[in-house]
Amino acid sequence: MKKILVTGGCGYIGSHTIVDLIQNGYDVVSVDNNSRSGTRLIDLCNFDDTHAIFAENEDIIGVIHFAAYKAVGESVVKPMMYYENNMVSLINLLRCVEEFKTPYFVFSSSCTVYGSPDTIPVTEENPEKPAESPYGATKQMGERMIRDVTRIAPVRSALLRYFNPAGAHPTNLIGEFPIDKPQNLTPVITQTAIGKMQHMQVFGDDYPTRDGTCIRDFIHICDLAHAHTLALKFLMEKSLGLECDVFNLGTGDGITVLEAIQAFEKVTGQKLNYSIGPRRPGDIMAIYANRDKAKEELGWTPKFNLEDIMKTAWQWEQKLKSDEQFYAGRNIQLN
Ligand code: WQD
Repeated sequence: MKKILVTGGCGYIGSHTIVDLIQNGYDVVSVDNNSRSGTRLIDLCNFDDTHAIFAENEDIIGVIHFAAYKAVGESVVKPMMYYENNMVSLINLLRCVEEFKTPYFVFSSSCTVYGSPDTIPVTEENPEKPAESPYGATKQMGERMIRDVTRIAPVRSALLRYFNPAGAHPTNLIGEFPIDKPQNLTPVITQTAIGKMQHMQVFGDDYPTRDGTCIRDFIHICDLAHAHTLALKFLMEKSLGLECDVFNLGTGDGITVLEAIQAFEKVTGQKLNYSIGPRRPGDIMAIYANRDKAKEELGWTPKFNLEDIMKTAWQWEQKLKSDEQFYAGRNIQLN
């Protein structure tokens, strides 16, 4: 079987992608420092640890690199934590990919590389603009590093620009598991609804949008995961004549924050306790994808809609609560 190294394999997107890879016949080596999900295993910021993975698995034909911190708001207040973690881990990986001549590299990039776009929906040809957050800057620098390495090494790469990943696996066996207070909208919504958080804020309703709140493109985690399997297949079988291809992974539907809250309330029958607060530093007003290229080149079409996202996210939050109650009854503390 084709062996793929997945970094950040215990994370939200990594875990769902591993399920999809295995369902599509791949063998997977998963590494994670679990700094955001449990006990430490492999630290990609340590070159020797990273090198050992490749030395012990010389049959790795591809890498899907998820391992990075990813909260826009947090990166504004902790820039060096983001620059060190996100860049040093990528540098170590690329040094190994170059040394071991790993043929394929898929990078977890982000729509934040577009900054605050002049035109929406954004296509892959939209110019990069100054990143609005250190998180976005790490993705811009990461893309540049990968382009430069794939230009001189026998590696083909795909840069996957995610929009807003959300929701949980329909089996309810895996989902998003924020270690601390969640930063992203969907887990904030579900934790507020279940009572883990007493209240949530909508960060600003004075943007020049249809209801004053920011616009985002929410993509179901399973659709996003499957796009990685398709990207590997594309790198192995097709070529647009480039060493490095870029793909937007979004639905193409721009949804406001209030519309996302209304969709949650409609699907779950839960009334959400929220109020309007000040804008969050680092936020951009609106962004959503033109996904034509991923459709044409990867054969990728999202199957889940916003209501599926909210339904699966809510089911997962309810499961987490019943697990916590189950283990509390046995005096076992989950993270
Ligand atoms: C979405 C909207 C907030 C929380 C994400 C990922 C990032 C990247 C891009 C993949 C914003 C508003 C949020 C809250 C709110 N994706 N909000 N109250 O900032 O778009 O970035 O997508 O790489 O990794 O983090 O996502 O969910 O934090 O915010 O009003 O309590 O929801 O202001 O408008 P963001 P987010």
